[in-house]
Amino acid sequence: MSVKITQFEAENVKRIKAVQIIPAENGLTLIGGDNNQGKTSVLDSIAWALGGDKFRPAAAQRDGANAPAHLRVVLSNGCIVERKGKNSALTVTDPTGKRAGQQLLNEFVEALALDLPRFMNANDREKADTLLKIIGVGDMLACIDREIKQVYDKRTAIGQIAESKQHYADEMLEYPEAPSAPIFATELIRRQQDILARNGENQRKRDLAAQLEQQVHLLQQKVDNLAEQLREASEACSKAMQDLETARKSASDLQDESTAELEADLQNIEETNRKVRANMDKARAEDEARQLAEQYKQLTENINALRAKRTALLNGADLPLPGLGVDDGRLTYNGHQWNDMSGSDQLRVATAIVRKLNPNCGFVLLDKLEQMDLRTLREFGAWLEGEGLQAIATRVSTGGECRIIIEDGRVRGQDTETRLEATTPRQWMKGEF
Ligand SMILES: Nc1ncnc2c1ncn2[C@@H]1O[C@H](COP(=O)(O)OP(=O)(O)OP(=O)(O)O)[C@@H](O)[C@H]1O
Ligand SMILES: [Mg+2]
Repeated sequence: MSVKITQFEAENVKRIKAVQIIPAENGLTLIGGDNNQGKTSVLDSIAWALGGDKFRPAAAQRDGANAPAHLRVVLSNGCIVERKGKNSALTVTDPTGKRAGQQLLNEFVEALALDLPRFMNANDREKADTLLKIIGVGDMLACIDREIKQVYDKRTAIGQIAESKQHYADEMLEYPEAPSAPIFATELIRRQQDILARNGENQRKRDLAAQLEQQVHLLQQKVDNLAEQLREASEACSKAMQDLETARKSASDLQDESTAELEADLQNIEETNRKVRANMDKARAEDEARQLAEQYKQLTENINALRAKRTALLNGADLPLPGLGVDDGRLTYNGHQWNDMSGSDQLRVATAIVRKLNPNCGFVLLDKLEQMDLRTLREFGAWLEGEGLQAIATRVSTGGECRIIIEDGRVRGQDTETRLEATTPRQWMKGEF
């Protein structure tokens, strides 16, 4: 059973002259009043009484008081806490009547319940850390978040490379008419040399024919000039003429082949190969871009799987308030981050989380509830009651929603004799205001 404040009395603390309060066991006890009347001083006094010296107000003793500050808190577990005397010394009496100290109080007093602004003013990550500490999945979630960040960063880098590679490939020239592999000059040169060799052979035969023709000519001269040698010369001449005939025949069938086409091909070879290389580069770039796009898709699937895992982890946790979560290391409520929550939602979230921090602590102090309209106040009060939580809160108002009105450091209508009667709980939560 969590511990509540059953009764509170203070004298001469900060703005308080004398105040005695019996808060409702569950739900909201609103302390109203105009500005500067001592509302916050009441909460500060409770915090000092229960939270120890670190909650001691800077000017704890009321100016002009002729008696020392005095605080007395009766708790629902039977403990009685007092600060009195010149040094405001602490006395804690346990339920059996034995003396105890701050250590006993710390077992059921949650420091953040005495100082909710400290939680509310913490940054988003600190709030999320507090929640994760409560639900006990912080390490696993941080691990998943780190993994998501790593894969996400990797995917971003791959995506950028894939995109620029694709741009690069798109801008490269392409030659559809070029062959698919580079061609080499050696084969063409070999064919050219064969033809040139055959043509050389032809030339040699032509030269031979020309020589024989010359010889016939000389011999005919010899026939003319040398009658005596006519017969031999005639024979030689006839033979030479026969040879000449054969040679002529063989030379007349010969035809030279053209190397023009090969020469043109040789000239074009470099240009063709340049196009072939360009096509190969483009194909390679496109292939790389395709592979990177495939990797990007795979990484997206990894991120989605990790996100599903973290959602499952949070869904499976025992949350202080349905709708709470942690997104990218920041606390969220119904999908909104702290700054996007309404003021009343912020209060509800803070109260729920702080309550879970120490379930033995059944109360929380809330200053400045002006931001809540009456309907929201009533809803908040009903929620607190449902949670079995006691909230002692202040509000600049003298309306009927306030169970207690503080005026000039006192509870309105409360004098020394009738203190408690004036603070008897009313049925205000049931819609009186
Ligand atoms: N030790 C002290 N003795 C006398 N007055 C003090 C002391 N400490 C603070 N005060 C005065 O108390 C007043 C503030 O009291 P408190 O904060 O309790 O009022 P409040 O009702 O909460 O006001 P608000 O509505 O503005 O929040 C200030 O005027 C401050 O100067
Ligand atoms: Mg105040």
